[in-house]
Amino acid sequence: MAVAIRQYEPHDFAALHKLDQACFPPGIAYSKTMLRYFLSQPGAECLVAADGTKIVGFILSEENPPLAHIVTLDVAESYRRHGVGTELLQENESHLAFRGVRTVLLETATSNDAGIAFWERHGYRREAVLKNYYPGRLDALEMRKKLSATPRSTS
Ligand SMILES: CC(C)(COP(=O)(O)OP(=O)(O)OC[C@H]1O[C@@H](n2cnc3c(N)ncnc32)[C@H](O)[C@@H]1OP(=O)(O)O)[C@@H](O)C(=O)NCCC(=O)NCCS
Repeated sequence: MAVAIRQYEPHDFAALHKLDQACFPPGIAYSKTMLRYFLSQPGAECLVAADGTKIVGFILSEENPPLAHIVTLDVAESYRRHGVGTELLQENESHLAFRGVRTVLLETATSNDAGIAFWERHGYRREAVLKNYYPGRLDALEMRKKLSATPRSTS
């Protein structure tokens, strides 16, 4: 599976929105307006995973060092369990750490067992349950990870 990670480009927007609609139930998936809003924030970073011209995953974060927030991480169903989510997250975390982020926060539905397993595998710890966080009275789990400082060159 030859998947390459690159920065988001504006022509990717429709594919990202479609993927997000496929990855999350109504109420949790982002509308076009919300997705555009997050992408346009000054501290936003969006990386996409592409198989040729096909977008098969993306991660979207917002940062205000030393804090960052992962807005979403989406991998197309047929590409899951092949390390695409891991590659996206590791690349994003290394950029965040380089820019001085030390704590990353995110929320995921308490019913999202796959998502929670993924985040825990990558060192995210359960921080709190946010009651009725999503529409439909769905609770969210807030998760947090500390990033290590990126070693700086002394030369
Ligand atoms: C969560 C998600 C991003 C994981 O992406 P992925 O590319 O399949 O993840 P990876 O292949 O890198 O998985 C890395 C590890 O995470 C854990 N993991 C991932 N999916 C899992 C699942 N369904 N069940 C249990 N553990 C899982 C495993 O430890 C896995 O390692 P392994 O395959 O060697 O056992 C993907 O399932 C997805 O897009 N889900 C829908 C959207 C979502 O819930 N996003 C996260 C919340 S914002």
